[in-house]
Amino acid sequence: MTPVLIFGAGSGVGLCLARQLRRDGVPVFAMLRSPAAEAGLAVLGVRTVSGDAFSTDDIDRALALPGTRALDVVSTIGGRAADGRLADEDGNINIAERTAAHGVERFVLVTSIGCGDMAPFRSERAIAAFGAAVDAKTRAEEHLRRKLPSATIIRPGGLRSEPATGRGILSDDPQIHGFIHRADVADLIRRALRDRDTEGRTFAAVDADQARCVNPIRPFHLAE
Ligand SMILES: NC(=O)c1ccc[n+]([C@@H]2O[C@H](COP(=O)([O-])OP(=O)(O)OC[C@H]3O[C@@H](n4cnc5c(N)ncnc54)[C@H](OP(=O)(O)O)[C@@H]3O)[C@@H](O)[C@H]2O)c1
Repeated sequence: MTPVLIFGAGSGVGLCLARQLRRDGVPVFAMLRSPAAEAGLAVLGVRTVSGDAFSTDDIDRALALPGTRALDVVSTIGGRAADGRLADEDGNINIAERTAAHGVERFVLVTSIGCGDMAPFRSERAIAAFGAAVDAKTRAEEHLRRKLPSATIIRPGGLRSEPATGRGILSDDPQIHGFIHRADVADLIRRALRDRDTEGRTFAAVDADQARCVNPIRPFHLAE
């Protein structure tokens, strides 16, 4: 099983993903900005290194963790640093740059509904609330596509921290929107890593029962 390095495993979707991959016996590595999650991840058998995505040296140290073995990489990071920089953009661009330089082929970047070709379908409310972060994520997506065309981009809808429903779907319809539970996003990432048909593709991720779309919803058929 190819080891997976997660940026963002300290909480949320990234932590759910670490748990699910360890349950499957996959070797998991993580770069953590804050030490709070370190002990919990160690119990799961995740090897961690401390680091900040604004530092390419830190990212290089994280990429070196598994040694010479092949590696898949996932980034779920986001948010604004104390100095105003957005991890959504600068952090993810650094991760994309160093991951590509390291020769990694499988990379999954988690961004957000509303990015890229979904932008024209955002509501005024969504633009006011998350517009800047979503635009920053779009720039990271664009950079990643240039650096690592085979990467998979997953754009979740509104996130909820509730148990998995098993009803998460991927869709390439730019007009879809809705909600999804963090554990279900993690499950979609886990499966996308194994499904080569997701390479080079960009998808929204929503819960089939919490999704809205003006078009009939046609989920991407993701391997189990
Ligand atoms: N909230 C929503 O409804 C929503 C909707 C769509 C998409 N999203 C996006 O989906 C992704 C996952 O969301 P989530 O709420 O599950 O995640 P989260 O709990 O906010 O976790 C993000 C992780 O990124 C880490 N991080 C942030 N900046 C970093 C940096 N400079 N260097 C290293 N690590 C850094 C954080 O570390 P620390 O533990 O040190 O803070 C944290 O562990 C995020 O990109 C989010 O923006 C969210």
